[in-house]
Amino acid sequence: MPQSISKSEKIPNLAPMDNFIVSARKYRPATFDTVVGQAHITNTLKNAIKNNHLAQAFLFCGPRGVGKTTCARILAKTINCLSPTPAMEACDLCESCISFKNGNSLNVHELDAASNNSVDDIRSLVEQVRFAPPSGRYKIYIIDEVHMLSTSAFNAFLKTLEEPPPYAIFILATTEKHKIIPTILSRCQIFDFNRIQVEDIASHLAFIAKSENIATEPEALHIIAQKADGALRDALSMFDQLVSFAGNNLSYKSVIDNLNILDYDYYFKIADAIRSEDMRTILLTFDEILNNGFDGNNFIIGLSEHFRNLLVCKDAQTVVLLKVTESIKQKYLKQASDCSASLLLTALNIANQCDIHYKQSKNQRLHVELALMKMCHINAAINLSQLPTATSEVKKK
Ligand SMILES: Nc1ncnc2c1ncn2[C@@H]1O[C@H](COP(=O)(O)OP(=O)(O)O)[C@@H](O)[C@H]1O
Ligand SMILES: [Mg+2]
Ligand SMILES: [Zn+2]
Repeated sequence: MPQSISKSEKIPNLAPMDNFIVSARKYRPATFDTVVGQAHITNTLKNAIKNNHLAQAFLFCGPRGVGKTTCARILAKTINCLSPTPAMEACDLCESCISFKNGNSLNVHELDAASNNSVDDIRSLVEQVRFAPPSGRYKIYIIDEVHMLSTSAFNAFLKTLEEPPPYAIFILATTEKHKIIPTILSRCQIFDFNRIQVEDIASHLAFIAKSENIATEPEALHIIAQKADGALRDALSMFDQLVSFAGNNLSYKSVIDNLNILDYDYYFKIADAIRSEDMRTILLTFDEILNNGFDGNNFIIGLSEHFRNLLVCKDAQTVVLLKVTESIKQKYLKQASDCSASLLLTALNIANQCDIHYKQSKNQRLHVELALMKMCHINAAINLSQLPTATSEVKKK
């Protein structure tokens, strides 16, 4: 007879995979105010709605994953909302908002031009434009990746864009503005989306981690934010991946191990050794880095960045250019005060030259080692140059 299993055994502790919603989707902003880092755009859009000054065609440009599609959808929802708030946000309660939320609004049409770029796709869209919206004020067409439309599709679209019916609004989005022909550009109100700042990404991740009950170290989120290079979607995907790997406790260590990022500590250690002319530590640390599977070129690029960070610490006004967490910033400030600006600048120069010639080098390990050895002798060279020269000695006498 089969044994009955206890409840705790029946329900595994893991969340079932099919219920998992990726953070990028789960946390897609539904209001202008929750869009991160694009206030110049969301404020303009809110004002335009408020003053009834809406353009009929918009072009949203910018890198991927920064909120173009998100803002297009918010705009579409808000302009059809039956009772927007005084701050010009959609109410999320009216009939129009609800059908939008359920994805069955008849007033909003999305076309992904990356996969539907033929003349026929555009023709069927243009056909629909002729009919007034069944309810609501506007019919909105969001055309994503619009630069992917074929030339003939573009031409078929142009006429509609030239003389759209008063209820039609077009929101075009693209990552490649330079591929949009001037005739289209001149008919659209253009919005340039920014890359999102490291701090903004990190605090958005912190907000999500808190909502999901995931413990994080600030340095861990900062590293993810840096690696995302301005794209919030990339940051969220990385975050999900790391959480699925490391569990509900995201430490700095687990992030750098999984993203294969070289620990800051290595750079601090090498810079200290350069200052104290400790060749042994420098060469052994570099060997350890290579043995851990890191690439020599990435190392030298990272070291250049480290010197750059130390240099910006030399001036109270430029410290703002340092995009790191508070605890790491303190470490930078301390190390910067220990090193002379000429040491840092010369080291940065050597590191930069090493990077430029790295690919041509036949022995890349030696190429980096040579650069490190040169750095190790900077202090000696500076001291030597500061000695009174023989001639000035003679003159003094
Ligand atoms: N500015 C932003 N503020 C908040 N979340 C964002 C922002 N940009 C991107 N995201 C997140 O990334 C996901 C993808 O954004 P999306 O608007 O589709 O980017 P794009 O169209 O610019 O490539 C969103 O669902 C959201 O979770
Ligand atoms: Mg998009
Ligand atoms: Zn509404």
